[in-house]
Amino acid sequence: MSDWWQNFFDSDYIRLWHGCDPPEKAAAEAEGIWQLLRLSAGSRVLDAPCGYGRHARVLAGRCAEVLGIDLSAPMLERARQEIGGLTHLRYLCHDLRTPLAEDGFDAAYNVFSSIGYGPESDDLAIFNTMRLAVRPGGLVLLDTNHRDMFIATHSRGAKSTMIANDGTLIVQESSFDPIEGRAVFKWIWSGKGTGGQKVASFRLYSATELVGLLRRVGLRFLSAHRGCTAAPFKTEGEDAGGRIALLLERDDSLPGLTG
Ligand SMILES: C[S@@+](CC[C@H](N)C(=O)[O-])C[C@H]1O[C@@H](n2cnc3c(N)ncnc32)[C@H](O)[C@@H]1O
Repeated sequence: MSDWWQNFFDSDYIRLWHGCDPPEKAAAEAEGIWQLLRLSAGSRVLDAPCGYGRHARVLAGRCAEVLGIDLSAPMLERARQEIGGLTHLRYLCHDLRTPLAEDGFDAAYNVFSSIGYGPESDDLAIFNTMRLAVRPGGLVLLDTNHRDMFIATHSRGAKSTMIANDGTLIVQESSFDPIEGRAVFKWIWSGKGTGGQKVASFRLYSATELVGLLRRVGLRFLSAHRGCTAAPFKTEGEDAGGRIALLLERDDSLPGLTG
């Protein structure tokens, strides 16, 4: 299943995931990103990867200078369709495993489980791109699913269902390989004369592993939060704390990778 993600983020993904994602949820996440990254009007921010721009739009609406990066043509096309005259919002098609031509950003974020698709070396390369893109002392936010959360929810059942806003029923199934630390997710959907399935494979890191990988590229851990919120991350409850958002700082006294 290597490189599954190169074709996964297509028009079906946009329809189904957008259909399960009310705008107020993205707005609340963007508010959390704004606070955690200490943004203000004029801040230079990198959304990496940006998908169809649901967070980038909100931050640019508050007058941050946002550059959204993604490799999926359908996602970027949708993002550009919804740019709505925001002149300080730009999008670029680029593979985040390779450093960007621009740098000096005040902050960068990678949210909604946008890592773990390929081998660990891909994630290190993406983190390194983010580190090189921000100025020394600049902040980086990483929000993702994680191994403890997956195991906690998976142990209560490997199947769940969602209904998109157009009535499409989506069934999610998952399995886990504890040695590889990878989960396979299958989504099967049907509704309104359409049906299909999508399969994805994710490396699920523990918080400890993530902090270690980020440190290897020169990003120093500052704090851990419950997803894109200011609330501290605590491993408790039936979802083992829920999503984790790690706040990091570019620290040039750490060795880091080269770009
Ligand atoms: C789950 S989506 C999240 C997008 C966005 N952060 C959001 O919250 O809507 C993951 C995105 O990562 C992009 N992506 C994955 N690997 C990438 C890479 N190496 N370079 C650029 N984009 C990548 C995919 O194209 C996809 O749009």
